[in-house]
Amino acid sequence: IYQKRRSFIKSMGYGLGSLSLSSVPLINAKANNLNEPNSYEDITTYNNFYEFGTGKSDPHRRAKNFTTRPWSVKIEGEVEKSLELPIEEVLDIKSEERILKLRCVEGWSMVIPWLGFSLSELLNKVKIKPTAKFVEFETVYNPEEMVGQRYPVLNWPYIEGLRLDEAMHPLTTVVTGLYGKSLPNQNGAPLRIFIPWKYGFKSIKSIVKITFTKEKPIGLWEKLAPKEYGFWANVNPKVSHPRWSQETEQQLGIDGRIPTVKYNGYEEQVSYLYKGLEKTLQDKLFR
Ligand code: MTE
Repeated sequence: IYQKRRSFIKSMGYGLGSLSLSSVPLINAKANNLNEPNSYEDITTYNNFYEFGTGKSDPHRRAKNFTTRPWSVKIEGEVEKSLELPIEEVLDIKSEERILKLRCVEGWSMVIPWLGFSLSELLNKVKIKPTAKFVEFETVYNPEEMVGQRYPVLNWPYIEGLRLDEAMHPLTTVVTGLYGKSLPNQNGAPLRIFIPWKYGFKSIKSIVKITFTKEKPIGLWEKLAPKEYGFWANVNPKVSHPRWSQETEQQLGIDGRIPTVKYNGYEEQVSYLYKGLEKTLQDKLFR
C-alpha cells in the first residue's frame, strides 16, 4: 500500500511543492481499506449538504452562487479573549495535502485528497481556559442562498461537536481545498472540518462559529434522532445503525462492497483517545 501510494503521489501533477510527507498521516496509517482517491467529479457531484437539499446532486447544482466572501469565523466560549478571524487569515495558515477517507454513516465512502491543516493550529490562536472540555461548531445560517434552510427539514443551523482532545488531534483537519484547488461550495466552502475516523456527519461544513464549552455539545443529528446518531460516531463495523449494518461500505467507483474498518482505518492513531471508554462505545445507546 505504501509503495502504491508513493507512486500515486509521484504521479500527481500538482501540489508536490507543498507536500510534506512526514505530516501526511496515512503514510504510516493502518488504513488497510484505503484505495486510490476518487475522481474530482465523484467528490464534487455526490454530496451531503442538506442546506442545499437532501438529494446527492442538489449541492453541486444549487451551491454554485453561494457567497463565501466576505467570511469570518468566531472563536469564543471558554477562552480568555474571543476572536473573530477573517477567512483570509485562516487561509494564511499553510495547507498541506492530506489523503483521507470519508465514511458516511449511510454506508458509502470516498478517498479524498484534501488540502488542509490541523484544527489545533486554528484553535491555538486563542488562549483556551482550563474549563473548556468540548468544542462546538456551527454552520452559517443563510436561507436566502441555502434553499434547504427555508424548510424545517432539520433544526438549522447545523451544529456538531468534539471532545477537546479529539479536536486537538493532528488528524482533525480544517479543510481548505481538494485536488490542489480551493474548496468547492458543495464540499463546505470556505472551510469545513474533517475527522477521518468518525462518520461523515461529524465533518461539518461552511463553519462560522467555534465555541469552547464545559458541557458536551448536542449535534443537530443527535438532537433529531438520538438513538441513531450519537455524539461519538466513531466508525465501527461492530456497532450497527438501528436500521442497517455498518459492516461493509460502498466506495464510490468500486465494484462491490468492501469491509468497514474500525475507526475507518485510523485505529493506530486514535484509539488512545478512547481508553476506558471502549465498553461504553460498544453500547448502541452511546454510539
Ligand atoms: N455539514 C453541513 N453543514 N450540512 C450537511 O448536511 N452533511 C454531513 C457532512 N457535513 C452535512 C455537513 C454528511 S452526512 C457527510 S457524509 C459529509 O458532510 C459529506 O461531505 P462531502 O459532501 O464533502 O462528501
